[in-house]
Amino acid sequence: MKFYKELSLNNNQRIILRSPSKDDAIDIIEYYKKSHDETDFLSSDSSEFNPSIQQEESWIKDIVESEKKIAIFAIIDNKIIGGVGVEPISKLSRFNHRCNIGIAILKDYWGMGIGRILMDEAINKAKEIGYKQIELDVLESNTRAYALYIKLGFNIIGKNPSGLIINGIKEVELRMMKEI
Ligand SMILES: CC(C)(COP(=O)(O)OP(=O)(O)OC[C@H]1O[C@@H](n2cnc3c(N)ncnc32)[C@H](O)[C@@H]1OP(=O)(O)O)[C@@H](O)C(=O)NCCC(=O)NCCS
Repeated sequence: MKFYKELSLNNNQRIILRSPSKDDAIDIIEYYKKSHDETDFLSSDSSEFNPSIQQEESWIKDIVESEKKIAIFAIIDNKIIGGVGVEPISKLSRFNHRCNIGIAILKDYWGMGIGRILMDEAINKAKEIGYKQIELDVLESNTRAYALYIKLGFNIIGKNPSGLIINGIKEVELRMMKEI
């Protein structure tokens, strides 16, 4: 799924929102590693993400050619500073109405409204594709993300008391859902 949009943030900074191209492979790996090292709120740190450039290029090709997957990266001053992804929950047709969404922004860019913008764009696109239900997992301790999802109209549909174990500590994971 291809996507392109340019807009201004409240501080007048220009931001490009776009789907990835083959040339982005190295930059995406770098962004992904950095974003996963900057927070414990994601499902892993960067040590478990070590794709080759070829593997990353084929991930990009798959996303761009897919009619059911969305990846939108946020770019400021030619640097990838955030990204959002939407994927089907399953290939089985009885799940056709459901998709998962995931987002991560580099820490230097938190609190500038970029999370909200990326989520809005991805949700609109998911609706356009034909999904009826968008879902995600969030740690209960991730108050920033949780507040964003509540504002966007997500509801809690499940609670896993030990969804992740990080440094030996059980983290409560919430499953959230929004009808679109
Ligand atoms: C969670 C994340 C995507 C939010 O993106 P962001 O760009 O910082 O968020 P925004 O600036 O768009 O703010 C959106 C909402 O987040 C909430 N928020 C922002 N700053 C907050 C803070 N300091 N404390 C609590 N909530 C806050 C608010 O509800 C805000 O809405 P408002 O602007 O109307 O007040 C981003 O912080 C991030 O990538 N975190 C690390 C990775 C992660 O946790 N991903 C989600 C995994 S489920």
